[in-house]
Amino acid sequence: MKEKLETIRQQALEEITHAAESEALEQTRVKYLGRKGELTQILRGLSQVAPEERKTMGQAANEIKEAIASALEGRKRELEAKELEEQASRNRADLTLPGRRPRIGHKHLVSQVIEEIVDIFSGMGFQTATGPDIETEYYNFESMNTPEDHPARDLHDTFFVKDGVVLRTHTSPVQMRVMESTNPPVAVVVPGRTFRVDNDASHSPMFFQIEGLLVDKEVNFAELKGALMHFVHSFFGKDTAVRFRPHYFPFTEPSAEMDISCTVCGGQGCRLCKHQGWLEILGCGMVHPQVFRYAGYDVEEVTGFAFGMGVDRIALLKHSIDSIHHLYENDLRFLEQF
Ligand code: DAH
Repeated sequence: MKEKLETIRQQALEEITHAAESEALEQTRVKYLGRKGELTQILRGLSQVAPEERKTMGQAANEIKEAIASALEGRKRELEAKELEEQASRNRADLTLPGRRPRIGHKHLVSQVIEEIVDIFSGMGFQTATGPDIETEYYNFESMNTPEDHPARDLHDTFFVKDGVVLRTHTSPVQMRVMESTNPPVAVVVPGRTFRVDNDASHSPMFFQIEGLLVDKEVNFAELKGALMHFVHSFFGKDTAVRFRPHYFPFTEPSAEMDISCTVCGGQGCRLCKHQGWLEILGCGMVHPQVFRYAGYDVEEVTGFAFGMGVDRIALLKHSIDSIHHLYENDLRFLEQF
């Protein structure tokens, strides 16, 4: 019996050491320690052994059982580790592949143009102000000297939100909001979204404007021209020519539109300027006294100038882009050029 136990021990340990995978190891466990296993049977048969021998035999058998169990456990851990390792190496990344470059974004062309324009005016002492996109008819029209029956309202193709509330058609209402909360002198530029029911190659229902307002004692038209020419020369280049044409706006008197020499042909005439040599880029004028009255300013004390420009149009002209819609289609092939 003693020899038999010893043989079992040796065989079992041998098989355990050579088990090449978990499954084989499990079979070995069943073979020796399972319910019908060789060692289990011996342990069961101990009752048949003579009482003098029973104790020593029992101890020996149990020791062997523990030795086998612990060998099984050790081998099991080895095999599991090996199998994990194999699995990992099957899924391992191919370190020879070229890396993926993280894409770095940048500001949208319209944001860049807004920042550049605001920067130029801030160099002349203008602060930046903003106002709400959803605006009352009072601020958008009435306070800008455009009463309900005024024909200029028709030109604005307004989006109505509800009675008395509109999507602002221009940034001019922010003039009034600023003046209501500030005593003169005032010098602000106002970038922001504006909305009109309009959609073709040069119009988008949502677009951007920058408004300008300067109010002080004895402000005159020459100062308006000086500020705008400085802007044009900084933004479009020193050689850009400027001209002012009389125009009409309800909130300025006198009013003008300002043209610059064509950014493509320099004034010779081409498709972009429709062979005029000039491109219109903004409206401007001296603040109408009626606007000052709405703001509660003393029209005997102060004068001022104002201007408003379409940011999108200016971006298109600067970069010779043929449709405003490129700006808002979010096609990275287009946007990444700027
Ligand atoms: N608000 C005008 C528009 O959207 C642009 C404009 C013209 C603004 C003359 C002004 C101005 O401040 O003085 O067409």
